[in-house]
Amino acid sequence: MTCSPCSLSLRTQIILITLAVIGGFFGLLILSPTRTMPASDTDEAMARMARLQPVGQVNLQIQAKATGPLTGEQVFKGRCSACHATGAAGAPKFGDAAAWGPRIATGFDALLKSALKGKNSMPAQGGRDMSDDDIARGVVYMANAGGAKFSEPKAAK
Ligand code: HEC
Repeated sequence: MTCSPCSLSLRTQIILITLAVIGGFFGLLILSPTRTMPASDTDEAMARMARLQPVGQVNLQIQAKATGPLTGEQVFKGRCSACHATGAAGAPKFGDAAAWGPRIATGFDALLKSALKGKNSMPAQGGRDMSDDDIARGVVYMANAGGAKFSEPKAAK
């Protein structure tokens, strides 16, 4: 590699390039802790917000529609999933036909009564006030996911 227009010898060019590379390397090394640390903190914070967002959205949705009817899915996600998504506290898990089968066999009215009044560790109305119709749609939604074929008492808009 030569540089005919300029007067530097090949050796000088190589030394200069080497110095530039080393300089750049150390420059990056010095800058990197101050530059990348806050960036990764921000990324972490963004990721956390992204994880929290769906929960916030569901809650907002429910608050915004507190006076109107909720769909079974909204009821489930907002109130019931806390226990029924994972089977926490011995709750029959969402979509687990084996856990829901014997309960479904008791009939929709019995399930609705348990949901409204509570049963053992299952809190009345899933822990908070909701209209009975909303709870009923939540029960239908969950029971159907567990193998039942109940129809919704009233269609949510
Ligand atoms: C705090 C945890 C928790 C929450 C929140 C919760 N459940 Fe449950 N649920 C349970 C547990 C535990 C059981 C099992 C009760 C038992 O049979 O001992 C249960 C059982 C049920 C059953 C079956 C009852 C029966 O007679 O076998 C229905 C239906 C039900 N839940 C509906 C709901 C609905 C609808 C919501 C939301 C509005 C909800 N649950 C929210 C814990 C919860």
